[in-house]
Amino acid sequence: MTPPNSANPFQDVAQAMDAAHAAARELVLTFPTRPVGRGVTYDAMEAAFDDMLPIEGVSASVALDEWLVRAEPGIVASAGPRFFGWVLGGVTPGAMAGDWITSALDQHGMLWASSPAAVQTEHAVARWLKEMFEIPADWVATTTSGATMSNMVGLSAGRQWVGEQLGFNPALDGLSGNPLIPVVSSTEIHSSAIKALGHLGLGKRAVRKVAAPDGAIDLTALEQELASIDGPVLVVANAGEVNSGVFDDLNGVIDIARAHPSGAWVHVDAAFGLFARLSTRTRQLLDGIERADSIASDAHKWLNVPYDSGFAFVRQKEPLFRSFSSPAAYLAGAPLELDLDAYVPEMSRRARGIAIWCSIKQMGLRGYQEMVDRCLDNAWSFASWIESEPGVELIAPAPLNIVCWRYTPEGLDETATDQFNRDAVAAIQADGRAFVSGTVYRGHAGIRCAFDNWTTTLDDVAILESVVRDIGAKLRTT
Ligand SMILES: Cc1ncc(COP(=O)(O)O)c(C=O)c1O
Repeated sequence: MTPPNSANPFQDVAQAMDAAHAAARELVLTFPTRPVGRGVTYDAMEAAFDDMLPIEGVSASVALDEWLVRAEPGIVASAGPRFFGWVLGGVTPGAMAGDWITSALDQHGMLWASSPAAVQTEHAVARWLKEMFEIPADWVATTTSGATMSNMVGLSAGRQWVGEQLGFNPALDGLSGNPLIPVVSSTEIHSSAIKALGHLGLGKRAVRKVAAPDGAIDLTALEQELASIDGPVLVVANAGEVNSGVFDDLNGVIDIARAHPSGAWVHVDAAFGLFARLSTRTRQLLDGIERADSIASDAHKWLNVPYDSGFAFVRQKEPLFRSFSSPAAYLAGAPLELDLDAYVPEMSRRARGIAIWCSIKQMGLRGYQEMVDRCLDNAWSFASWIESEPGVELIAPAPLNIVCWRYTPEGLDETATDQFNRDAVAAIQADGRAFVSGTVYRGHAGIRCAFDNWTTTLDDVAILESVVRDIGAKLRTT
C-alpha cells in the first residue's frame, strides 16, 4: 500500500495531476493520426478489466498507468477529426482547459453559497448562450448533462404547464387519477425525447406520432391531430432529425399550436440543429424557434466541449421552477432563484459551465460561426461527392451537417443491399481511417456521417471518400 504523504497529502495530488497531464497529452495530440476504429472484441475488453477488487492501494500514477494499459485497445479517437459516427464532436482548447480546472477544483455547481464562482459562471453562460443563439433574454437557460436531460428539462416544464391548465399540479400531486396530458410529435421524434417522456410518467408509447413523409412533420396531419384533442397539449418538434438533419417547419408547427383552442406547449429538440443559427447559410432552418416554449440542445456535440454537457432554454420560469424546486432547510442560503437545483433534475452537479465559459471565451462567437461554416463545407462537399460517385447514393437531403447515404451495388435486391451496407459500416470501422455509423432510414440500412468536429478539414473528408471507395470495391469483389 502507498500511504498518503502525511506531511503533505497534496504532494500526491500534484503527482497525480502531472501523470494525468503527461498521459492525456500523449493520447490527445496523436488523435489526428490514430486509427479511429479499434476493432477490439467484447471478450478482450472484458478480460482486460477482470481484476479483483484491490484491497491494498497504489499511488495515483500507478493506478492511472494500470488503467491505461487495460483501456488502450478500447480508446477511440472520437474527439479527433476523422470520426463521423453518430453526432459526437471534439473538445476546443478552451473547453479542455476549463474542464480540467473543473475537475481539479471540484466546485459544487448547485448552491451559490458553496461556490459563487461556479454558480455565477453558469448564470453568465446562460446569458451568453441565449445571445449566441438569439433566444430572448428573459428566458431561463440552464446547463444539463446532455440533450436527453435538456429534453427532460423542457418537457418537464411543459408537463407542468399542461397539467396546471388541466387543473392539477403534476410535480406536487403526480399524474395518477388526473386528466391525461396528451403529447404530439412526428414519427421522427428522437429516442431521447421518448425516454424523457417515459421518465416523466407521460408514457413512451403514448406519444401521438404524426406522419413526416420527407422527414419534416406533415402540418396538415398535425392540424388534424390537434383538432382531435379537446384540451391543452404538449407538442414536440424536431429541429434536426438525427438521420438526415431535416427540420420541422417551426413557424408552421407553432402557428398550429398557438391556434389550438386550449393552448399548447411547444418543445423543440435541437440537440445539434440549434447550431444552424450560427451560419447565414442555414439559419433560416430555425425560423420561428424563438416562438417555442422550450428548446433542448447539446454542448458536447457541436459546441465541442467534453462530456457530459448540454443546455436547455425555457420561456416561462414559473412552470420550470415549480417542476424542479425542492427546497430544504439545510440548503437554504442565497435567494432561491440563484441556486441551480431549482431548474434541473439534479441537486449536486458538476460545474460544467466553466468548460463552456472558457470555450466561448476562447473561440468567440466568430470562432463558432467559422467552425459551423467549416463543418457545413465539409458535409456538403462529402454530400456532393456521394452524388457524383458511382455505386453510392444519398438517401436523405443534407440540409445541415448530417449526410445519410448508402452503397448501391449492382445486381443485389433490397435485402442483399441492406446487408451490404451493414457489412460496409463494420468494414469501414475496422479499417480505422475514418469512422461512420449505421442506421435504418425509411426501412432500409443506411450510413450516417456527421460533421461537427472543430478540427475536421477537407483533407479529412478526402480520406473519408477514399475509404468509402476502397471498402466499396473490396466488398464488391467478395
Ligand atoms: C436530435 C437529438 N436529440 C437528442 C439527442 C440525445 O443527446 P444526448 O445523447 O447528448 O443526451 C440526440 C443525440 O444524438 C439527438 O441527435
